[in-house]
Amino acid sequence: MLGKYTHRGTCRICGSKNVIKFLELGQTPLANRFLCKEDLTEDEPYYPLDVYYCTECGLVQLLDVVPSEEIFNEDYAYFTGASEPMRGHFSGIADDAQQHLPITEDTLVVDIGCNDGTLLEYFSRTGAGLLGVDPAVNTLQVAAQKGITTIPEFFDENCALKLRDEFGKADIITATNVLAHNPDLNGFVKGISLFMAEKGMLIVEVPYIKNMIQNVEFDSCYHEHYSYFAVRPLTYLFSKYGMGIADIREVPVHGGTLRIFVRRGKEESEVVNKMLTRERELGLDVIGTYIDFGKKVKLLKEKLNTILKELKDKNKKITGYGATAKGNTLLNYCKISTDILDFITDTTPFKQGKYTPGMHIPIFSEEKFHEEPPDCALLLAWNYVNEILEKEREYRERGGKFILPIPEPRVV
Ligand code: TYD
Repeated sequence: MLGKYTHRGTCRICGSKNVIKFLELGQTPLANRFLCKEDLTEDEPYYPLDVYYCTECGLVQLLDVVPSEEIFNEDYAYFTGASEPMRGHFSGIADDAQQHLPITEDTLVVDIGCNDGTLLEYFSRTGAGLLGVDPAVNTLQVAAQKGITTIPEFFDENCALKLRDEFGKADIITATNVLAHNPDLNGFVKGISLFMAEKGMLIVEVPYIKNMIQNVEFDSCYHEHYSYFAVRPLTYLFSKYGMGIADIREVPVHGGTLRIFVRRGKEESEVVNKMLTRERELGLDVIGTYIDFGKKVKLLKEKLNTILKELKDKNKKITGYGATAKGNTLLNYCKISTDILDFITDTTPFKQGKYTPGMHIPIFSEEKFHEEPPDCALLLAWNYVNEILEKEREYRERGGKFILPIPEPRVV
């Protein structure tokens, strides 16, 4: 069944009509909409998953927009604290923030898209006031249990004004992995400009399109990620609301992420200019780069399916490792179902006992992986490849293999 969505004809940052489609991933269900057993007989909503490039400002984006209420509701399955490596990463953000701006008991730190409060917990050691904003009520309950003041809302201009009235202006606003989740980028950044203190700082993290292109991370595309960022369109977006990137660095999570420090004023720092130059050198500002990427994705699908078929022909048992959202893009696009994967294992209790959207592969806890080890595991959580290969050393020493799907499918 086709779900409800709207198609927009213009770029969501600059409004240009010059938006060109370069990747068609077919119709897929929502990537984090895991199913209970009783849901399996119901008709699942599917939505087109096509990716576009704006030749004016350079934003890569989806134009078929699934309303955010459909995606970020009480069923939202992502819990930040469930992934051990993410906890270390968030601790690093809090340290980094302190290097840029002294934090005292008078500081108000607001995390937009606070999820289960994992990031704010690391700020709590500073004594600062903590406020978490997130529309996904189930994850927010976990944050509230940690003593964080929680606001169950989707952040936009109206929400910003309400928060400013109630709590005053925010000194530090963090938004990790949320900008891509907001279909209204202008409303979001305008909201920040209303809510942030004069000398305040916004810390944004977004997956970097450079890595997506270089590593053929096509599976990072799913409906909750409305936009895919390079530095150039972001610079333009912040400048529209009187802000500029004061500092920026690349951090190694989610397949390659930008950590961006934004302040009032339009001056761009030297490090930003360097990154803009590098983006031009890599061709991130020309459509041809994205068209080539689309071709690589098609080849990847063929190669991965060939590898899986050869293994199945040899009667090998294959399972999936990590019931990730990105994995659901990959499984649905490559049409990998229970005829290939017996099951998927994942550490998130919320996902265990459920089934993946679209392909309906059952999900079990990690114990099942060790109790019934496969011959080969398709690594759907490839963003943790090093941690997982290390963690599963024993399985590998006993001859167990992993199939790494990107940048080119291979068995290790
Ligand atoms: P995540 O990195 O959030 O990817 P996505 O945004 O695509 O969903 O998800 C990682 C998933 O992998 C999460 O459900 C937890 C799981 N996981 C394991 O099962 N085992 C592991 O060792 C690690 C690191 C993660």
